[in-house]
Amino acid sequence: MKILVTGAAGYIGSHTCRLLTDSGHQVYGYDNLSRGHREAFSRATGGRLLIEGDLLDTLQLKEALQQLEIEAVVHFAAFGLVGESVKNPEMYHRNNVEGSASLLHAMHEASVRLLVVSSTTAIYGEPKTMPISENSPAAPINPYGQSKWDVECLLQQACEHNGLGFAALRYFNAAGAAPDGMLGEDHRPETHLIPIVLQVALGQRDRIQIFGDDYPTPDGTCVRDYVHVNDLADAHLKAVNTLTPGESIQVNLGSGIGTSVLEIVKHARHVTGHPIPAEMAGRRCGDPPLLIADNSKAQTVLGWTPKYSSLDSILTSAWRWHQKHPHGYQAT
Ligand SMILES: NC(=O)c1ccc[n+]([C@@H]2O[C@H](COP(=O)([O-])OP(=O)(O)OC[C@H]3O[C@@H](n4cnc5c(N)ncnc54)[C@H](O)[C@@H]3O)[C@@H](O)[C@H]2O)c1
Repeated sequence: MKILVTGAAGYIGSHTCRLLTDSGHQVYGYDNLSRGHREAFSRATGGRLLIEGDLLDTLQLKEALQQLEIEAVVHFAAFGLVGESVKNPEMYHRNNVEGSASLLHAMHEASVRLLVVSSTTAIYGEPKTMPISENSPAAPINPYGQSKWDVECLLQQACEHNGLGFAALRYFNAAGAAPDGMLGEDHRPETHLIPIVLQVALGQRDRIQIFGDDYPTPDGTCVRDYVHVNDLADAHLKAVNTLTPGESIQVNLGSGIGTSVLEIVKHARHVTGHPIPAEMAGRRCGDPPLLIADNSKAQTVLGWTPKYSSLDSILTSAWRWHQKHPHGYQAT
């Protein structure tokens, strides 16, 4: 299939481009490189065409879809930092919601009807029942989560009225790197726990701060569900093959395993051989104690089972990437 991937130069986008390419799809990238890396896409696809463009440029998107005879779009391009969204809600609305509306309009004009989109567990806010199933009500508590929920609602309308077929994949915490160390996580600034812990092991930070050790969890620190980026990529491949015009799918993508902050730090000490000093700090506002996925629907609907999402596989692959690329894609 000919597939346009937005956000193809980003973390999850590049890993997915690699798997789609290896599986025989013809992949084209679309990215404004505001937060991604040309090198990531180039490594992932062996140098296929990356169109440098913004989601808000509807005309450029439409021309790309038509000229490349695209059959399906995989849409990662968005901003994804909760704290930044709280400071700049309008920026998140514009980039994530209006950007997706622009893409949808271009797809409509170019008669492309199949879409896989990155959504997030942040649409559920602070769910009352655990593990979190797709039946949990959408109740986002920050502008980032709200923007992703707005996009899902827009797509549902396009599905019901214009025959769009889409899959909204609601990720938990993406983590890990390509096992061969070729692709990995390089966000600037980095806000995700695992890369930050590994930056301590690399000597780039003095210590890790743990925000709260008095939560109602077994060791008192927050528990999250980490899913390996290659498992996410595999879910996109399966979703592309499942799309049907006029039908929508919403699935949670998590490992179903809860891992505490302290467990990550302890296992990272084991994997890296570095003491990784940790310092306890106060709770952060809006951090729920526990977020774990019920991933049974993804198993049933997509035939997806996470294979790489054990804590050891996540940390070992991430450590290999960080050791090979202590400054990310910058120095390559
Ligand atoms: N990383 C996670 O744990 C996680 C969890 C849940 C959901 N998500 C979602 O998954 C998607 C990918 O996340 P990621 O971690 O790979 O992020 P990323 O920042 O590494 O990648 C996003 C890519 O989109 C591009 N982009 C952003 N706005 C654009 C625009 N207007 N036009 C063109 N390109 C644009 C960036 O340059 C970047 O290459 C995002 O939609 C994010 O919200 C990520």
